[in-house]
Amino acid sequence: CRPTRVSVIGAGNVGSTLAQRIVEHNLADVVLLDIVGGRPEGIALDLLEARGLEGHDRRIVGTTEYAATAGSDVVVITAGLPRKPGMSRDALTRANAQIVIEATRQAVAQSPEAIFIIVTNPLDVMTYLAWKVSKLPPPRVMGMAGILDSARFQVFIAKELGLSPIDIRTMVLGGHGDLMVPLPRYSTVSGIPITELMDASTIDRLVERTRNGGAEIVELLRTGGAFYAPASSAYTMVETILLNQPRLLPIAAYLQGEYGLNDLYLGVPARLGCGGVESILELKLTDEERIALHKSAESVRYTLEYALDLL
Ligand code: APR
Repeated sequence: CRPTRVSVIGAGNVGSTLAQRIVEHNLADVVLLDIVGGRPEGIALDLLEARGLEGHDRRIVGTTEYAATAGSDVVVITAGLPRKPGMSRDALTRANAQIVIEATRQAVAQSPEAIFIIVTNPLDVMTYLAWKVSKLPPPRVMGMAGILDSARFQVFIAKELGLSPIDIRTMVLGGHGDLMVPLPRYSTVSGIPITELMDASTIDRLVERTRNGGAEIVELLRTGGAFYAPASSAYTMVETILLNQPRLLPIAAYLQGEYGLNDLYLGVPARLGCGGVESILELKLTDEERIALHKSAESVRYTLEYALDLL
């Protein structure tokens, strides 16, 4: 029988950690691809050698050849350059656009039935480019960002309240950047909105830390960005799709009029299932929230316009 297969393009920190999560959770076989020969093969062999200890029988292949990715159910693109300290996400656009365009072209030729999840930054713009290049229907191309931003917000709330994060659910909309829109009204502890549990200035502080979550880690690591939580976030999406456990999650999805926005990928709550992004939920927003979302969308569109010239 044919095992489920996930191809991870980019065997860097995020890609290799994601590959590890997928095989060690016994979710699927993995093909790990990188442009730098030796790296994906070495990581794959290392992960294979842990199979007995971790108690799974999943295969993992490291390669530089797209032919090895053929017939994938899900393709995750993490290939790109990481952000350096002080470097904005937008500064990465040109370099990463070329990488993502090429990776998508090659991967979709091998796996025309796959669902694509983009992780490379600037996220919303890279996801749009991947969708455009792939010529796939919008539900089958999406970006990972909101789950990560929401996970950070969740943990900051948990820490502030001295609670475990397990009962905390958060929602962050917008582009994956400084203008993202965490939604305290729709963030809860066991169903209770956090606006009932914390004062406004505490919430503002946690919102600000969430917006700055990626940069905070870049500053600490100095070389490269976060990868454990990003890999967990991408894993959550892959698992949701492959197990067909439909979930309502914040995902960079293609908007066609929702929230008054058109022809743009942006973080919104969406139903994710085996068909990919199965629907988008339009939340009721306050004027302030809607203005913040549109401001974030404008910034994504600005970067997109210039990235589209590269196509
Ligand atoms: N094809 C395949 N792989 C490539 C290509 C390419 N054209 N160009 C670069 N890569 C590989 C690099 O060789 C490297 O192994 O992509 C990998 C990126 O890994 P890291 O530098 O470790 O970056 P990582 O921390 O994994 O982040 C990857 O995810 O969160 C985002 O901002 C982050 O855009 C970045 C991406």
